[in-house]
Amino acid sequence: MASCAERLVEIFGSQAEVARALRLDRAVVNNWMKAGYIPARWAMQIETLSEGRIQSQEVLHEAQRAKPVRVKSRPDDDPLSLTGDSSMTDFAPAKRISSFHPPQRTLMGPGPTEIHPRVLTTMSQPAIGYLDPVFVDMMEELKSLLRYTYQTKNALTFPASGPGSVGMEYCFVNMVAPGDKVIVCRNGVFGGRMIENVERARGVPVVVEDAWGEQVDPQKLEDALKKNPDARVVAFVHAETSTGVQSDAKTLVEIAHKHDALTIVDAVTSLGGVPVRVDEWGIDAIYSGSQKCLSCTPGLSPVSFSDRVVDYVKARDGKIQSWFMDMNLLLGYWGASTRTYHHTAPTNSLFGLHEALLLIREEGLENCWARHHRHYLALKAGLEAMGLQYLVREDARLPQMNAIHIPESIQAKEADVRKRLLADFNLEIGAGLGPLAGKIWRIGLMGYSCRPENVMLCLSALGSVLDDIGYPVHVGDAESAAHQAYAQVHSRAAQQKLRTA
Ligand SMILES: Cc1ncc(COP(=O)(O)O)c(C=O)c1O
Repeated sequence: MASCAERLVEIFGSQAEVARALRLDRAVVNNWMKAGYIPARWAMQIETLSEGRIQSQEVLHEAQRAKPVRVKSRPDDDPLSLTGDSSMTDFAPAKRISSFHPPQRTLMGPGPTEIHPRVLTTMSQPAIGYLDPVFVDMMEELKSLLRYTYQTKNALTFPASGPGSVGMEYCFVNMVAPGDKVIVCRNGVFGGRMIENVERARGVPVVVEDAWGEQVDPQKLEDALKKNPDARVVAFVHAETSTGVQSDAKTLVEIAHKHDALTIVDAVTSLGGVPVRVDEWGIDAIYSGSQKCLSCTPGLSPVSFSDRVVDYVKARDGKIQSWFMDMNLLLGYWGASTRTYHHTAPTNSLFGLHEALLLIREEGLENCWARHHRHYLALKAGLEAMGLQYLVREDARLPQMNAIHIPESIQAKEADVRKRLLADFNLEIGAGLGPLAGKIWRIGLMGYSCRPENVMLCLSALGSVLDDIGYPVHVGDAESAAHQAYAQVHSRAAQQKLRTA
């Protein structure tokens, strides 16, 4: 029977092609052929690459047969040994599991994005206790770096333990009491999640609808507030990741305040990618995620609350329905005075966020926004040169989230395109959600993923795959348009420098 290596070469046509797909030296593949097995650590990737034609278990079994793993300190009849004949083995996984080594991907979807190497290094430092004085000092720095990123002086600004959804829930659970009327503006997936949150907090949502891909219409919000003068809170998504549209947060907050309502703003995709000015815009409560334009690991949700919100929550009758998210209790850990145990903080992730925010501080927030815009211009030039069109009108687009119409003639093959980008180029882009599923691709340019080499890889890879499936693309046009866009940006910047010198 052919070995897994031989079957892989047969699928790909040659050893060189296998080596290319795995980003390996050809000699390595040649060694596998000679040895008659592929080392176990490649099992999962081989299954993915061969689209399941070679199962990871086959690779593992073959490797185990050819080169059995010996546990020197434990004989086979040891009751703890996985191969031992003991009742404990009933619970052992059916396949042999080796350490997990994720492949190196280029992440250009809607998030998560690539993590900056400095953040990865920092996260692998030794753990320390969450009440260790050294950690407490780091927390203070982290809070001040977050205030800078949010452009706020809000004392209660900290990273909640959990993904963006925890930040979202944190706001609603604390600010919405049973019976409270909340106006939620929905123009995509995440506005819908806000409605869910209001309902689960036993509030009464009033929904202001806008089409997917459109901004939240300030006039509709004004009308809704006039009709519902008892509304206590207005909630909206600043950067709707499902469509790539950016709403005018400043105007929406102004309208809410005119009607004496507090505001909850979702900045999961906007923070770090486009201006978010909490104090200048008067935002009352805001949440974000660590895994997008902040280039950090998923699992932390930076939040910020004005003093008005803190007073409002403190004055609420009765207990807040969630123990974990009760702002009054968490103040004891993240507040300004002495720290007490609330929950076990994810220390190493917090080291990582500290480093990620430090990177933004070093780059300068405005330069960080400008970088996102610069690479968006190049990506846009390239995509348009391929004949692809944006979902969102130009002046409402998020540079970090590019939603592109999939031409009708290739919509049936859209999943195949993404699969090939992943398998052949290690490149991940996102699919459409809800009514836009199968109709758009979402190409993210967020945080550390927002780099010129990613822009060029994306254009070349997409061009190549589109060409393969029969969509007419002039190879090289997109890359050349992107280079021209970069050149224009640089020449404008040089002229500007001359004028101000
Ligand atoms: C706008 C928006 N809000 C909320 C969330 C939820 O964040 P998480 O997936 O980190 O829980 C996301 C995630 O993509 C998002 O894009």
